[in-house]
Amino acid sequence: MAVYEATASAPVNIACIKYWGKRDTKLILPTNSSLSVTLDQDHLRSTTTSRADPSFTEDRLWLNGKEEEIKEGGRTATCIAEMKRLRKQEVEDKQPNEPKVKNHPHHAPQILRSDHLGLQLSTHHVHIASFNNFPTAAGLASSASGFAALVSSLAQLYKLPVSPSTLSLIARQGSGSACRSLFGGFVAWEQGTLPDGSDSLAVEVAPQSHWPDMHALICVVSDDKKGTSSTSGMQRTVETSPLLQHRIKHVVPQRMADISAAIRARDFDKFAEITMRDSNQFHAVALDTEPPIFYMNDVSRAIIALIVEYNRVSVEKGLGRKAAYTYDAGPNAVIYTLKENVKEIVELILKYFPQREGAFKDVFGLLGGVDVAKVEGNVPEGFNEAVAKKFDVGAVKGLIHTKVGDGPRALGAEESLLGNDGLPK
Ligand code: DP6
Repeated sequence: MAVYEATASAPVNIACIKYWGKRDTKLILPTNSSLSVTLDQDHLRSTTTSRADPSFTEDRLWLNGKEEEIKEGGRTATCIAEMKRLRKQEVEDKQPNEPKVKNHPHHAPQILRSDHLGLQLSTHHVHIASFNNFPTAAGLASSASGFAALVSSLAQLYKLPVSPSTLSLIARQGSGSACRSLFGGFVAWEQGTLPDGSDSLAVEVAPQSHWPDMHALICVVSDDKKGTSSTSGMQRTVETSPLLQHRIKHVVPQRMADISAAIRARDFDKFAEITMRDSNQFHAVALDTEPPIFYMNDVSRAIIALIVEYNRVSVEKGLGRKAAYTYDAGPNAVIYTLKENVKEIVELILKYFPQREGAFKDVFGLLGGVDVAKVEGNVPEGFNEAVAKKFDVGAVKGLIHTKVGDGPRALGAEESLLGNDGLPK
């Protein structure tokens, strides 16, 4: 019997211009546009298999092997319903049935039969299994890659002839930032103005190939306390922060234009300046929220001090800024830099944040086979070592080196996460 199934993987993205605030919480429409860099799926990804079958009695979802409830009217249910609606509208309703074929000689019925375009897949329930290749404990948001992979796998299963921007409209309703993971490279989420959200979508600013030397170093910072979720935190900011209103009206529009131009011109100095200032302002509006929200901790702030000093030395040498920190709704630092500087920055981080054995998977071979725990670290010439104190092992519990990457990928049947019985393997 035929199996109707597809498997896709999707990347993580980290914003340079932050999304923080909704004007519509159900449709997930933002109060400002945002812009991110898509990170390489070779390192960080969500993989999702979706299967439609007439024997399934309900839609079901497993995350990392554990079944999750699909709440009625919830975000996952909305995404699945929207994808089924698109399948019906864009594929099934457009298939000519037998009498119609005569009137449409350019439609080739034999192709339709060898494929499953003519099947009413939208009426079947789906089983969806998703897996993140990075631990949730790393504190990296998995909702962006997760919803992008879910939408991408369903789009493949349903053979939807639609653009990534159209799919981004649906991923957005799973988690706002997920809409940006439908593209590789440098991606803008245009806030849009329409009340139905049909113009609030992701667009490519530049592909991965435009600036492949854009690398990222993620410093995984230990965090014991349970933080405020993005969803509830940003709503409180919308309700209480006057600074957010200033940001929305007077800051973000210019920054979106300026950083897009910096990316097109491969102007790292400008890219870095805007990225750091926008991270700072996002954390300022979090602080301006009542009661205030703190996402960064002492380790986060020490990393800022190191990058600021690192850039000061570089600017003094006439080289401009060479690194950009950015922080989301947690203490982890993401440091954007060009490929040629990564080794120097890893050395700098190691000087202040000694590592346990195996805490760095050196995928680019920066340390020449030496374990990260054995590397002393080093600062560049002219660097003022007093800008931060040296921390104990474990303050930064791991480093992930990655780079700008491509958009969602279609994977082969051998990558399927579902077994013959329709349950996770
Ligand atoms: C700080 O996309 O996780 O990472 O739409 O409520 O699911 P929901 O929020 P989410 O918020 C991300 C916030 C951010 C900034 C960003 O990614 O732009």
